[in-house]
Amino acid sequence: MRPPHVLLSLLPLSAAQLQPVPTFGPPIPSRAKMFVYAPPNLPPNPAILLGVHYCTGTAQGYYNGSPYKRLADEKKFVVVYPESPNEGGCWDVSSRATLKRDGGSDSHAIANMARWAVERYNGDRGRVFVIGESSGGMMASILAAAYPDLFSAVINYSGVAAGCFFTDSVAGWNGNCSGGRMNLTPEEWARWVLDAYPGYNGTRPRMQVYHGSADDVIAPANYNYSIAQWTTVFGYPGTPLEEKRDVPERRYTTQVFGEKLTGIWAEGVGHGVPVHGEEDMKFFGL
Ligand SMILES: *[C@@H]1O[C@H](CO)[C@@H](O)[C@H](O)[C@H]1NC(C)=O
Ligand SMILES: *[C@@H]1O[C@H](CO)[C@@H](O)[C@H](O)[C@H]1NC(C)=O
Ligand SMILES: *[C@@H]1O[C@H](CO)[C@@H](O)[C@H](O)[C@H]1NC(C)=O
Ligand SMILES: *[C@@H]1O[C@H](CO)[C@@H](O)[C@H](O)[C@H]1NC(C)=O
Repeated sequence: MRPPHVLLSLLPLSAAQLQPVPTFGPPIPSRAKMFVYAPPNLPPNPAILLGVHYCTGTAQGYYNGSPYKRLADEKKFVVVYPESPNEGGCWDVSSRATLKRDGGSDSHAIANMARWAVERYNGDRGRVFVIGESSGGMMASILAAAYPDLFSAVINYSGVAAGCFFTDSVAGWNGNCSGGRMNLTPEEWARWVLDAYPGYNGTRPRMQVYHGSADDVIAPANYNYSIAQWTTVFGYPGTPLEEKRDVPERRYTTQVFGEKLTGIWAEGVGHGVPVHGEEDMKFFGL
């Protein structure tokens, strides 16, 4: 009888599947877990996409329930699926540590996963992307703020501006943020981004923000907070340069604020704006 690992190694490459990566960088306090999906026949310098799940989510659940595995097979890129270590499966988007570059919390763990994947797959450093939903969308904003040099584009579905969820505790719930009761000036919003990586002068990722007008979990005002935050960081006017109605679909409005910032306002849509996988690929240039 052959030992089982020999049989596994004989499986055809099409049997590629989600793999755990037990060690992906120096130990830090966050216990976030890493999983990766690498399709067969990767090109020499593939793009790397991080898919960050919502609260109650898992890496396997996001792998099964989102279109990115299928898109990775088709377009030949690597997908990293981080998994939250926190009770309830939400990401830490509320502590001081997570809102700082290399501060030891979940954002740091996810950045280490991206760094590991770029090394391991000889990834294209100019095509490292993040997509996140809800709690993962909040994390996407923090990653954009704290690791602008690591990620080149970020999409966030139904998230919040970086810092909006700050409670000074790990994986806390900020009811003022979720309820849309924040009173920050655009400069104060931008400060959260600038302070996440003080002194950073380089280029920042392109960003796309989706929010539903009927979101009753993360109030629609959060769309405005994000736009105020990133237009200020980029030095764009606070009003869109261009507005496309019924794009990417009926009752959605795409607002272009500048080369690097697009907002998509989904009229009548609640929390959990449906994932637009093909649109995401276009935004990432995949
Ligand atoms: C929410 O807002 C109220 C009133 O401004 C304030 O007292 C409270 O500390 C805020 N809560 C958080 C978590 O920031
Ligand atoms: C930012 O730019 C200024 C002026 O060009 C330079 O003095 C400074 O060292 C830069 N900071 C970083 C972190 O690169
Ligand atoms: C967001 O900003 C727009 C444009 O300034 C404004 O019309 C709208 O009422 C704001 N929405 C919320 C929920 O604050
Ligand atoms: C995520 O979306 C929120 C609003 O929905 C926005 O405030 C935030 O800036 C966005 N972050 C990114 C990285 O797009």
